[in-house]
Amino acid sequence: MLDDAGKPINAHWGSILRYHGVYYWFGGIMEGKTINQHVPLPGVSCYSSRDLYHWKNEGIVMPGEIAGTDLVLPRYPEREKVIYNRRTRKFVMWMHVDTTEYHYARAAVAVSDSPTGPYHYLGSMRPNGSECRDMTVFQDKDGKAYLIFSSEGNATTHIAQLTDDYLKPNGAMARLFIDQWREGPAVFRYGKRYFLINSKCAGWAFSAARFAVAPSMLGPWKELGNPTVGAGSDKTFDSQSSDVLQVAGKRGAFIFLGDRWKPDDLVDSRYIWLPISIQGDKLEIQWRDHWDLSVFK
Ligand code: DGJ
Repeated sequence: MLDDAGKPINAHWGSILRYHGVYYWFGGIMEGKTINQHVPLPGVSCYSSRDLYHWKNEGIVMPGEIAGTDLVLPRYPEREKVIYNRRTRKFVMWMHVDTTEYHYARAAVAVSDSPTGPYHYLGSMRPNGSECRDMTVFQDKDGKAYLIFSSEGNATTHIAQLTDDYLKPNGAMARLFIDQWREGPAVFRYGKRYFLINSKCAGWAFSAARFAVAPSMLGPWKELGNPTVGAGSDKTFDSQSSDVLQVAGKRGAFIFLGDRWKPDDLVDSRYIWLPISIQGDKLEIQWRDHWDLSVFK
């Protein structure tokens, strides 16, 4: 995908926040040569759009290294997600911070007064004392927010409710998909149902997505299999889940966002966006060569 200057959008592990009629796409910048399936991650980018077709590059909203904090090489940020806190009027960014060894396994938080930054890094933590690797955040209609993350060596997923300022866990939590080794969590709500789509824990390799549904974020979560159907569904159409975007102004219009990694040239990794069809508890994602927002009624 290209931005409105004709340059490839550099926002991997993307997630989208909508604020005051504008969509903000946040993601990790990948730059330079890939060596042993690792690439420099010089910061977090943001692109804005009113229509989801045209994207303006808003620049680097947070650098990948911040002197005087733990976010300096060999540590780097991944999977940046932003929510807006109406009470504190802060944009709150959560991310996974790690090293190439992948043992640091911490979640970190940064805040900004504006969606396009600058984000001020507040530091990292082990949420509720637990490891955090692939993660996402979800903000519910009642204002409560949750951190959803691969934990316990990546074997089990945790959901941690956050404090009202969204800056740390408040202690309420759930463990799910125990010993199932899931990564790439993406969460959304439609009506009274909460949905969670994820990938297998497979590094940069593609795997079959799975999804689960729950009546509340802390569960109970019911696992319902692979949401993707047809040829390529065993590998999520060569992608890994990153986020689910709700299209404003259309009922039940949700888009699956995935990363199509190129492990030997990560900078050239692509994005897969596909509409999700929802029937009761059931999700279905089909491959489409071309589509636009008119697929949503
Ligand atoms: C597994 C994750 O799912 C990917 O998104 C990526 O973060 C790799 N780990 C990095 O090694």
